[in-house]
Amino acid sequence: MKYSNQEIRELTDLTQQLLAKEALQKADMPSLVQAMQFHEYRYYVLNDPLVTDFEYDKLYTALKKLEAAHPEAILPDSPTQRVSPDLIDGFNTVAHTVPMLSLDNSYNEEDLFDFDKRLKDLTEEENISYVVEPKFDGSSIAIIYEDDVLTRGATRGDGVEGEDVTPNVKTIQSVPIKAAFAQHGIKKIELRGEIVIRRDVFQKINELREQKGEKLLANARNSAAGALRVKDPREARARGLDAFMYQIGYAVDADGNDLLHSKFTNHHDNMALLASLGFRVPLAESGLCKNISEVDAFIKNWEAKRETYEYDTDGMVIKANLREVQDKAGFTAHHPRWAIAFKFKAKQATTKLLDVEFQVGRTGAITPVGKVSPTQLAGVTISSISLHNEDIIRQKDLRLGDTVLIERAGDVIPYVVKAMEELRDGTEQKLVFPTACPVCGSEVEKPEGEAVWRCVNAECEAQVEERMIHFVSKDAMDIDGMGRDIVKRFYGLQLLKSIEDIYHMDYDKVLELDGWGEKSVERLKNGIEESKQRKPERLLYALGIRHVGLTTAKTLMQAVENLFDLANLSMEQLQELPDVGPKVAQSVYDFFKVPANIQMLEHFNEIGLQFQKEAKPAGENKLNGKTFLFTGTLNKMGRNEAKQLVEDNGGKLISSVSKNLDYLVAGEKAGSKLSKAQAIASIKIITEDEFLQMIA
Ligand code: IVH
Repeated sequence: MKYSNQEIRELTDLTQQLLAKEALQKADMPSLVQAMQFHEYRYYVLNDPLVTDFEYDKLYTALKKLEAAHPEAILPDSPTQRVSPDLIDGFNTVAHTVPMLSLDNSYNEEDLFDFDKRLKDLTEEENISYVVEPKFDGSSIAIIYEDDVLTRGATRGDGVEGEDVTPNVKTIQSVPIKAAFAQHGIKKIELRGEIVIRRDVFQKINELREQKGEKLLANARNSAAGALRVKDPREARARGLDAFMYQIGYAVDADGNDLLHSKFTNHHDNMALLASLGFRVPLAESGLCKNISEVDAFIKNWEAKRETYEYDTDGMVIKANLREVQDKAGFTAHHPRWAIAFKFKAKQATTKLLDVEFQVGRTGAITPVGKVSPTQLAGVTISSISLHNEDIIRQKDLRLGDTVLIERAGDVIPYVVKAMEELRDGTEQKLVFPTACPVCGSEVEKPEGEAVWRCVNAECEAQVEERMIHFVSKDAMDIDGMGRDIVKRFYGLQLLKSIEDIYHMDYDKVLELDGWGEKSVERLKNGIEESKQRKPERLLYALGIRHVGLTTAKTLMQAVENLFDLANLSMEQLQELPDVGPKVAQSVYDFFKVPANIQMLEHFNEIGLQFQKEAKPAGENKLNGKTFLFTGTLNKMGRNEAKQLVEDNGGKLISSVSKNLDYLVAGEKAGSKLSKAQAIASIKIITEDEFLQMIA
C-alpha cells in the first residue's frame, strides 16, 4: 500500500476540511494537490475511492480556479498538470493510440448556455446541433479492431497509457468479437466506451457479498472497474458486465488514411453505424438536438426519469454533432472543447456519523436516527438520516464516529450505504440500543420475527405527540392550520394533552402566543370545526391503529354501517374481510378492547364527528356485493370514475384475476388479465357499455 492507515486518516480529515471551507485560498493549494493525488490513487489504482466523484470534482474545480488566479503557484505535480497515477502490477501497460481525455463539467442551465456561446465564438458557427447522451457511471475502455477482429481492450489508466484487459473484455456479451468494419473500408478502428453493470445485477452482486460476509461495493462503477481487472476472465464473465460505445477514437483504411475526417463526420450517424455492426450504443436514450435550448429540455426530461433507467448515470454528455465543428473547436490538454458533461446532483456523499438519537413513533416503534455532519446530497442538506433498525445497524456494523457513505436516489429517503471501515482509528464506538424507552423510560419489547423495538407504554409522551400529529395530517383529519410543528408546540405548552383536546382548544390562550393573531386563530378554529365532517374511514385511519392504513380503513368501513360496529366483530369476522390478515385483525380487535379508546370514540360521537356511513339512496345497491375488475382502455369514463361507480352501487373492487372475481370489464386493448379471465369459467367478461347498463 502506498499510504499508511495513519496517512489515510489524515488525508481524509484534510479532505473534509477542504470540502467544508467556504472559500479556498492560495495557501490551500498544496493541501488540495496532496489530497487530490491521494484520491486519484484510490480511484484509479485501487478502484476503491473514499470520496464521491462529486466531491472530487468540487476540489478539482476549486484548484483550477486558484491556479488560474495564481499561476506562479501551480505545483508541477498538480493533477491539473497531468495525472499519472501508478498502474497496478499484473496487467501489461499499453499506450493509447490517441489520448483518452476527460470532459469539462457543467452543473446548471447557465453553464450549458455559456458552453454553447463559447463554442459558437470559437467556431464562428451560428447554429450548432448537439447529441445528448447519458453519462454512464462506469469504467471507460478503448477497444481496437483490426481486420474485423477484436485485438485489444484497454482501460483508461492515466489517459495516455492504460492496462491491457483484453481477455476480460472478450467475456462481455455486448462487445462483439468480430464486426464487419472492412465492409465500410475500415482496416483498423479504436472505439471508446464505458463498461457498466446493470443496477439490478449490481444489487444481486452486493447481496451475495453480504451473505458471504464480504465488503460491500459502494456502487456499480466500482464493481465494473473491479471486474474489468480481475486476473481470471471466467471470474470477469461472472460479474455481469455490459458495454456501451460512445465514440470513435481513431479509424484508418488499408492505406493508413485517416477516416475520421472523411467518413465519420457526424456523431449521430457514427453511433447508428456502430449499432448496425452489433455494438451497444446509447441511441434510443440519446437526443439529436437542433440547438442548446433543445439540449436543455432533453436533459430536464431525462433527469426526471433518471432513476428508472437500468444503468447508473451521473449526468449527460453533450457533444457537437458535426466533425467540422469539433475540428474547429479542438481540445485542451484535459478535454475536448466541443463536448461537455452535465452533472446531475450527486446521489452519494460521505459524511461523519456523529450521534444517534432514538425516536419513538406513534405506535411506539423506536427508530434510530443518525446525526451526521451536514452534507449536500441530491440538492438538499442532510444532517440526520434514518438508520432503520437494530438489525440493519448490526449488519452494516455502523459505529459512532464512522465516516459513512450515504445515498439518496429518487424519492427514496436517504440511507447509509456502508461505513468506510478503512478510515477507523479505533475511537469509534459500537451503537448501543436502549434497553428502556428513551422518552418515558418504560419497558421496550421486540416480538419474535420483528426487527423493531417498541415502547410498551401507550401513554408515552412521544407516542401521544406522534398520534396527534398523525390525527391532524393530510390523509387523516386534514386539519387546516395545524401541522407537526404546531402540534408539538401546543403539546409542549400543555395546550393539547391528548387527541380529544384538539376539539376543545383554549383559543384565548392560543391568541396570547407569539406569532398568533385573530386571523390565524380563526383559521385554526374553522379547520378544526370543518374536520368533524371527514368520512368515518378517515377518522378510523386517523386513530392511528397499527397496520391500519387508509386503504385498510376503507375496507373495514365497507364491512359495517357505523364505525362503532367494528367493536363487535370477532377476530374471525375481521379476518374474513378482504385484505385483512391476522396482524391487522389482531390490532383492530385490540384497539376496540381498550376502554379509554371507546370513551374517546363516544366523546367524538357526541361532539359531532362522523361515524355513520352516508345512507345510500334506495336503488343504489344494484351491484350487490359483486366483485369487479377493469382492464384495457375505457372510453366513456376514467378508471377512478369507474371504480367510484362500482363502490357507489354496492359493488366491490379487486385487484387481480382470480376465482373471487365476478365481472371483468374489458375495455380496448385488454391484455393478460383478459386472457387469464377467459380461462376461469365463473368470471363474466363484459364490455364497458354492458357495465353501464348494469347500473343504469
Ligand atoms: S465522451 C472525448 N460520452 O465520462 C470525449 N464519455 O468525465 C470522451 N463517459 O472518461 C468522452 N458516458 O469515461 C463520453 N456518453 C459518454 C460518456 C462518457 C460516460 C465517461 C468517460 C469519460 C468520462 C469523463
